[in-house]
Amino acid sequence: MKTIKPAERTKKVSYAIRDIVVAAKKIEAEGRKILYLNIGDPPVYDFETPHKLRSVVSKKILASEYDSDENVSTYCDSMGIQEARAAIARDAEIRKGIDSVEPEDVIISSGASEAITLAIAGLINPGDNIMTPSPGYPLYSGQIPVYHGELNPYYLNEENGWQIDFNELEKRVNDRTKAIVVINPNNPTGANYNKKSLENILEFARQNELIIFADEIYDKLLFDDNEHISIASLSEDVPVITFGGLSKNYIMPGWRVGWAIFHDPLNVMSEYRKAVNKLLRARLCAPHPQQHMIAPALEGSDEHLNTVLKKVEKRRDITYEMLNDIPGISCVKPGGAFYAFPRIQLPKNVSDKEFVLELLEETGVLVVFGSGFGEKPGTNHFRVVFLPDEATLKNAYQLLCEFTKEFYKKHHFNPHNVFIKE
Ligand SMILES: Cc1ncc(COP(=O)(O)O)c(C=O)c1O
Repeated sequence: MKTIKPAERTKKVSYAIRDIVVAAKKIEAEGRKILYLNIGDPPVYDFETPHKLRSVVSKKILASEYDSDENVSTYCDSMGIQEARAAIARDAEIRKGIDSVEPEDVIISSGASEAITLAIAGLINPGDNIMTPSPGYPLYSGQIPVYHGELNPYYLNEENGWQIDFNELEKRVNDRTKAIVVINPNNPTGANYNKKSLENILEFARQNELIIFADEIYDKLLFDDNEHISIASLSEDVPVITFGGLSKNYIMPGWRVGWAIFHDPLNVMSEYRKAVNKLLRARLCAPHPQQHMIAPALEGSDEHLNTVLKKVEKRRDITYEMLNDIPGISCVKPGGAFYAFPRIQLPKNVSDKEFVLELLEETGVLVVFGSGFGEKPGTNHFRVVFLPDEATLKNAYQLLCEFTKEFYKKHHFNPHNVFIKE
């Protein structure tokens, strides 16, 4: 039999966050220790899924054995179970301030990732484009080409705390643009958007008749008493799809519980929503048992967040201080999530990918190269996940500091820091 060739479109799919682990595993196989600062998976570190939520599922599974009305081994509604959709709708109205959300406006998916993928699949024809933040989470830039869409990145303003710049948006839009993605708080920069940035996007989307894809998966993970503003809560006319889930806020990425909330004040999305619902039916349903965690999570006291935020904020501070003390590295202070995206000065002939691979090889410190998230041409960055404990982080940053100094010496390169620490 001849060899099976994959589809051409898969060539454009890459996911640096996991791809780089292949290199790390090789080094680990040689018996060397890796310091993993690369993946935003809180339970890998010292964070736990709230026990109360876990027990909801175990009770449901046990009940399934005795009571056919409670059977979570069945498929469920393609849009998700009613009780959970109602809880998401109430949370959207009360906490997020989004106007008039009904359970019918909510779909439940296998992680927010599935809802995002289906929202893209249902929207674009070959040659259409979706504007994506650069840097931004690579799921979007990975999935758009799968549906024969074009990538259309807009650059975030690092000099202004990675906020969004209206002029930049206007430069990028064209007549095939269908939507704009806003990730708030952002992965990989950790920026939490201010009201002005969000109003700019709304105005831009209004003028250009775009849907806003609002990825708010980190909306409870904010530092310094920062407030999260849900962009749909500001919209009286522009259609917004808000993506959320339990993965990050409730420390359970592996349970795969996500959703999308359709906010459509002028009812311009009805045909599109029917198409998305068709796609939902074609994949049957999201995993059933864990959907029962949604209502208790959203209606609970969120006690776990006190400890989570206290620990993560301290780790954010260590990250910010220690990275900015390294000559050649400058880091904007993250306002939310658990990522920092420091800039690094590099000689012209070295890419951030090469730097990160050499750092890994020499020290075992694993971060992700900035080009994996998109970045302004001519700049170099890497992404750090600051979920590991304080000792691990300090050790990793110390190794990074020593490595960077040697690296510059080897390349006869004289770095300067781009930003002044606050
Ligand atoms: C911005 C952003 N959106 C979506 C996701 C995926 O979330 P889920 O686990 O719900 O699929 C991630 C995961 O890291 C993310 O960072």
